[in-house]
Amino acid sequence: MRGDGAACRARRLLRPALLSLLAAALTATVGAAATDGLDVAIGKAVFDRMWVRAPSSTKHADGLGPLFSARSCASCHAGGGRTTFRLGRDDPATHPGLVVRLGDAAGAGDAVYGQELQPDGLGDAAGEGRAAVRFASATPGFPPRPEWRVEGWGYGEPSADLRLSPRVAPSLAGLRLLARVPEAEIVSREDPDDRDGDGVSGRANRIGGGAIGRFGWKAAEPTLEAQAALAFSLDLGLSTTLRPDGAGDCTEAQAACRAAPHGAAPGEPEVAPALMASLMAFLEARPAPLGAKARGRGAALFASIGCAACHAPALKLEGGGVAAAYTDLLLHDMGRGLDDGMGEAGALSAEWRTAPLWGLSRALAQGSGLLHDGRAATVSAAITWHAGEAAGARGRFDALSAGERKALVDFVNGL
Ligand code: HEC
Ligand code: HEC
Repeated sequence: MRGDGAACRARRLLRPALLSLLAAALTATVGAAATDGLDVAIGKAVFDRMWVRAPSSTKHADGLGPLFSARSCASCHAGGGRTTFRLGRDDPATHPGLVVRLGDAAGAGDAVYGQELQPDGLGDAAGEGRAAVRFASATPGFPPRPEWRVEGWGYGEPSADLRLSPRVAPSLAGLRLLARVPEAEIVSREDPDDRDGDGVSGRANRIGGGAIGRFGWKAAEPTLEAQAALAFSLDLGLSTTLRPDGAGDCTEAQAACRAAPHGAAPGEPEVAPALMASLMAFLEARPAPLGAKARGRGAALFASIGCAACHAPALKLEGGGVAAAYTDLLLHDMGRGLDDGMGEAGALSAEWRTAPLWGLSRALAQGSGLLHDGRAATVSAAITWHAGEAAGARGRFDALSAGERKALVDFVNGL
């Protein structure tokens, strides 16, 4: 098969020392169609690559950390999919794909620990600590709420106003379609003052500089490249053109970490632009999930009780077609139960991007927990946490007959 051939060729060629040479030669020597397949294969190799400590003999594959949460993109998004982490079943200290973001109520990172808890460190740079959780007694209307803490803070007690925002790694399937939703389509669904009086207000995340965010649980990143650069910086401690600091999330207070050697010559990013471009080609090639058709009683109930007010069954795409992603890419205030206290670039702590529901059948089949921290084992459990702007839909769900509830849940389970 042609695709496999390209992958094999790429693997053989991908001795790390050859990576950048190869990427440079690519555009120069290979025809456009072949380049695409090879580019995706190289991108996959970048995605799967286990980065190593700098300096090493494997130039172009080093520069990990010094502080890091994982060694590769694939450690958290195995096969380009969602992490299997489920809160209450899996240990957040060791399960790959559960990340703890750090910040204050306005989203500013911690003076010592930065923007993310990196459990691992290299050399003299100690890891920052490990996430742990317990369940508080239930508040009326909600199940027992997870309460997070960090055990073994590596650099002393953090500031008193530090908030923890644990998040699971989502699936990367179909993201190229979400990238192609025009900003006008997103903005057309906003209703910040709830003029239509349906209780759902929704607003785009205007992250600054005129851009609208669409990726991440809080829609804080505008493009796939920006999201990948953030991942390289916070999760892996690698610099890119967009985030040139080789020390990643190490703060001035973490001296050993800042003094450690980097994986690239001064002025150059550890992840060469050509490799980033190939990684983008790989992400763009992730096909959209093939979910259930939006037909039948469950789909009708999904619309009539107001799930679709946020989980929009179709978003128009630039150049035609739709993304059947079941999201509006807007932020919604989801109420107290999902409020983790930490804000982020343009989003308040109780605001979350409507989670795309396409691919849910796959997530459930692999046992992943739902919601941003993986706390819900089932669709019904996820709905129990819907409040704030989603309170109306949740109330109407509770008021359905058992048969109707089952039809609705079966429909969502099949997406
Ligand atoms: C340590 C675990 C971890 C690693 C490693 C990691 N990610 Fe992620 N990824 C996450 C989490 C958690 C989120 C959700 C982020 C958020 O909302 O703050 C995410 C979100 C994303 C998204 C946005 C998805 C969406 O639905 O909007 C993309 C794209 C992505 N990651 C790509 C990558 C790439 C590319 C790499 C490697 C450079 C990578 N990730 C490495 C955990 C990880
Ligand atoms: C006001 C907007 C809104 C409405 C209405 C709404 N949701 Fe959601 N939904 C969200 C947001 C935002 C999230 C992400 C919340 C989080 O993770 O903290 C979400 C998450 C989910 C998830 C988890 C998805 C995942 O990938 O983890 C499911 C399942 C879900 N909603 C189903 C429903 C159903 C079914 C209805 C109708 C009864 C509904 N939602 C109504 C906004 C809404």
